[in-house]
Amino acid sequence: MKIDLFDPQSFAHGHPLAQYDWLRANDPVHFQAEPNGPGYWAVTRFQDVWDVDRNFQAFSSEPTIMIQDPLAEVGGGFGPYKMMLMMDPPQHTAFRRLIRQEFTVPTAADKKSRMQQLAQQIVDAVIEKGECDFVAQVAGEMPSYVIAELMGMPLDDGRELYHLTEAIHAAPGTVPGLSGGEAVMKMFEYGRKLIEEKRARPKDDLATKLLQAEVDGKKLDDIEFLLFFLLLIDAGGDTTRNLLSGGMIALLENPEQHRWLMADLPGRLASAREEMLRWTTPVIYMRRTAKHDVDLAGQKVKAGDKVVMYFGSANRDPAKFAHADRLDLSRTPNEHIAFGTGPHGCLGQHIARIEIDAMLMEVLTRMQDFRLKAPPHWLPSNFISGPQTMPVTFAPGKRAS
Ligand code: HEM
Repeated sequence: MKIDLFDPQSFAHGHPLAQYDWLRANDPVHFQAEPNGPGYWAVTRFQDVWDVDRNFQAFSSEPTIMIQDPLAEVGGGFGPYKMMLMMDPPQHTAFRRLIRQEFTVPTAADKKSRMQQLAQQIVDAVIEKGECDFVAQVAGEMPSYVIAELMGMPLDDGRELYHLTEAIHAAPGTVPGLSGGEAVMKMFEYGRKLIEEKRARPKDDLATKLLQAEVDGKKLDDIEFLLFFLLLIDAGGDTTRNLLSGGMIALLENPEQHRWLMADLPGRLASAREEMLRWTTPVIYMRRTAKHDVDLAGQKVKAGDKVVMYFGSANRDPAKFAHADRLDLSRTPNEHIAFGTGPHGCLGQHIARIEIDAMLMEVLTRMQDFRLKAPPHWLPSNFISGPQTMPVTFAPGKRAS
């Protein structure tokens, strides 16, 4: 079995499930070589991934959560500045505290009817055409609108910024137009305009709250704000999009599961959504760096070694999930790790769930006879998994409510 979890091409048709299976069974903490870098430990079993993610005392998110060290990637190369995702407690705790109120279960639930409205609007825009690119025209619209609303930006701007996230995550040269670095610069340009706008005309939105917030008695400066802005656009964008597209592909590939879901869509949606999260696992990995020598499942990890958690492999671990390789939309409990865990566990997960439910409800009831027009084309990224394009055909059906 050829093992290469670094090469983006290994992910060009989805998660490399055969490699994951082999690694979990034979080499669960595997040393993966890396071009232009020292290599890293690839962690593939559920329990080990869980333990690493929660143990911030031994496994640091600094200097970065990307496999490659700062300057070679995004957000880590800003001198003393870094994104919250790349901080350890107690600094991380202080930054997360600034925005966590906007992401609680009740705050997310308050957004439900607005999200249902947006989902209707998105499907309305394509339904009469009978065909579309599901990724760009349906699945990607929702997360970009939601972030735009959260930050207090026009919906169209949210859409444009979301296109930039794709250029950031793809392997160089695989998304036409912009390089990752250019995409980050464009996002920052937009962020700077947003700062001017919100300072001049403060509103009841997250961007304004961030500009007024203080850490240790000191307001966020422009770069701190911009890194928050980049994190939110980036984290909530193609993750949710890929779940929706990947979830629809899973239904097409498992028609009996699709029929089971449709027999009681409102009643079965929640367990179906969790299984889609387990099945598609849009975030492929998060990296940590060992703070001291540590034994990890029998492997001697040295201080300074990179340790990379493979969430898609953990979510297919037969030691954790019965019939892990079977899509079972009724699976309960379903303690998947698609949102990570520990101090950095996905802050947007409650919002993501409401977005996903609103979209699935709308798509599954209104886009009847949903079919692929051509095979989906996967994003060649070793960080984010999901189709980049997915041409589909459908017939108009009745609205859900
Ligand atoms: C299906 C959709 C999503 C998936 C699969 C996902 C997955 C993840 C994962 C795996 C992490 C890292 C967790 C860890 O290190 O243990 C993360 C962090 C994060 N996510 Fe999500 N996410 C999704 C949607 C969203 C949305 C919609 C938002 C915002 C609106 C969001 C905001 C964040 C933020 C801010 C962090 C960093 C948290 C921290 O560092 O404390 N995510 N997400």
